[in-house]
Amino acid sequence: MRLAIASQKGGTGKTTTSITLAAGLGHQEKRILLIDMDSQANASKVLLPNYHQIPKEQTVFATILQREPLTIHATAIPGLDIAPAHILLSNTDIELTIAKDHREARLKNQLEAIQDEYDHVIIDCPPALSWLTVNAFTSVERVVVVVAPGYFELDSIVQLNKSLEEVREYYNPALQLLGFLFTMSDPTINSRTSLKLLRQTYGDQVFKTIIPRNTDVRDAHFNKLDVFSASPKAKVAVAYHKFIKELGL
Ligand SMILES: Nc1ncnc2c1ncn2[C@@H]1O[C@H](COP(=O)(O)OP(=O)(O)OP(=O)(O)O)[C@@H](O)[C@H]1O
Ligand SMILES: [Mg+2]
Repeated sequence: MRLAIASQKGGTGKTTTSITLAAGLGHQEKRILLIDMDSQANASKVLLPNYHQIPKEQTVFATILQREPLTIHATAIPGLDIAPAHILLSNTDIELTIAKDHREARLKNQLEAIQDEYDHVIIDCPPALSWLTVNAFTSVERVVVVVAPGYFELDSIVQLNKSLEEVREYYNPALQLLGFLFTMSDPTINSRTSLKLLRQTYGDQVFKTIIPRNTDVRDAHFNKLDVFSASPKAKVAVAYHKFIKELGL
């Protein structure tokens, strides 16, 4: 399956979910490609110890701006490869806005050449509905929307649903929302209220698995490890494992 992990808001747990899903499936001996579409390159920095030595020509930057094939880098996790991001991806939106070719399909065109080598492709999206996100949505079959507790979350979901609708209409009729993943859940009233509202509004589209707020995952990524390698018994590792099962991947 080709799957994008998205949310319009920043800091909801997209990158954490992308890394953990990809690593979890890699540990299960699946062949996984993680594509980092965010210029912050957080997923690339966790999974590639030599990230800072990688020139932009060997990142998604070259695919989006120069229409080059994807450059794939192996990670320390068996089965998991990554196409890393580059800081200069942050400039691409302006360039894509004035581009006249199929600017929405630059990732898709290059991904098609290699996707058969993988069981699953996971794309970590930037926190904005930019041309990069449109490229991600045009390349995948399914989208998981990550939702963290917060007052304005539901508003941003409405925006994201509009973008999904537009991409479906213009570029990728097969695109489907797989569901909403509630992350960073904790025992506060704010968190409980957010989840209740999400379930009231979107019912069955909210995944049963809830990802708890748990610093073990941040610590793991700080140490350039996935949480299954660093602390497999951590609450957050158990929850993501359950999520992989719920997805049926
Ligand atoms: N379940 C969790 N428990 C505790 N901390 C978490 C959890 N998930 C993510 N975090 C931490 O919260 C911060 C934001 O998470 P992450 O980078 O995954 O979000 P993001 O949606 O990708 O952010 P951005 O929109 O900036 O790309 C990070 O420091 C991460 O380590
Ligand atoms: Mg991120």
